[in-house]
Amino acid sequence: MSLFDDLEGVYAEAARALEATADAAGLEAWYAAYLSRKGAVTLQTRVVGQLPKEERPAFGQRVNEIKAALESAYAARAGQIKQAELTRALESGAVDVTLPGRPVTEGHLHLTTQSLRQIYAIFARMGFEVYEAPDVELEAYNFDLLNIPAYHPARDMWDTFWVQTPPHEARLLLRTHTSPGQIRAMRERSANQEPLRVILPGKCYRYEQITARSEHQFYQVEGLAVGRGITLTDLIGTLHQFANLFYGAGRKIRVRGSYFPFTEPSIEVDTNCILCGGKGCGVCKYTGWLEIAGAGMVHPVVLENGGYDPAEWSGFAFGMGVERPSMMKYDVSDIRLYYGNDLRFLRQF
Ligand code: DAH
Repeated sequence: MSLFDDLEGVYAEAARALEATADAAGLEAWYAAYLSRKGAVTLQTRVVGQLPKEERPAFGQRVNEIKAALESAYAARAGQIKQAELTRALESGAVDVTLPGRPVTEGHLHLTTQSLRQIYAIFARMGFEVYEAPDVELEAYNFDLLNIPAYHPARDMWDTFWVQTPPHEARLLLRTHTSPGQIRAMRERSANQEPLRVILPGKCYRYEQITARSEHQFYQVEGLAVGRGITLTDLIGTLHQFANLFYGAGRKIRVRGSYFPFTEPSIEVDTNCILCGGKGCGVCKYTGWLEIAGAGMVHPVVLENGGYDPAEWSGFAFGMGVERPSMMKYDVSDIRLYYGNDLRFLRQF
């Protein structure tokens, strides 16, 4: 084997190895192995000294040819690899813009809020403003000023969540009904001796066992109209109109005598069952009637506490639940669903 053969062997090996490079790192290693200062091809230039004088020019020329050939092959290979890497990067990051988008889930109003808004709209048509009163209420507003003094047996009608307050300060509670707002609304309007017509929506709280039919929190909408010459007929007409607009046309109204400390007389108002129309079914418990509100003419003591002279002014008031009517309307069997945050329930409305 001559040194010329060795040189051709190194060239052939370098060319094969270059073909086999697959990425930038392999290419760099190849360059270091063959063409760098200590690369196998570069080192061939030192072999020249071992040759007889007359062979040296030919050997040197051949080494230079090989180096030049490998340099340009290297440049070509580098171009190929760069292109291949770019193609791979584009393919792996490719986005198919024709795929359908992910749906954005849209929220909607809670069933209770929907019912409240329906109720606001119905009473707005009859000239009632919305008046809001606090959830944490003074004992006096929730009871005493509504003609329910301490130790009055009527307090048993409302099981109360008390708020802890220092011993000699006014006692606070979570309102057990929306009626205390009556006093607040009246005191505001009676300052100018103006008539008023408001509904008072809000959450109420009672220290009660939670069952399918009763929650310890629930909404009520209170109604109050004070003016000169307001009568029980106005009250019944207002609730009749409400029943027609909330439950559907053709409603009948039935009035039963009742007792509430803040009204005189007091009534309970029913409408014929929305499901069976009065024949009797599971929804109305085979009575044919559904209760829609407790109501009555504002008691003179309450009018006075609100700042109106009962000799000159009269008024009616009513209080209705929100979840119960909604349960009847949509045939929901468990009030706890309104507070359970279960989307399978909420999404149905
Ligand atoms: N506040 C009563 C309750 O929660 C409901 C009620 C009855 C309100 C008669 C009224 C009314 O305004 O006149 O049981």
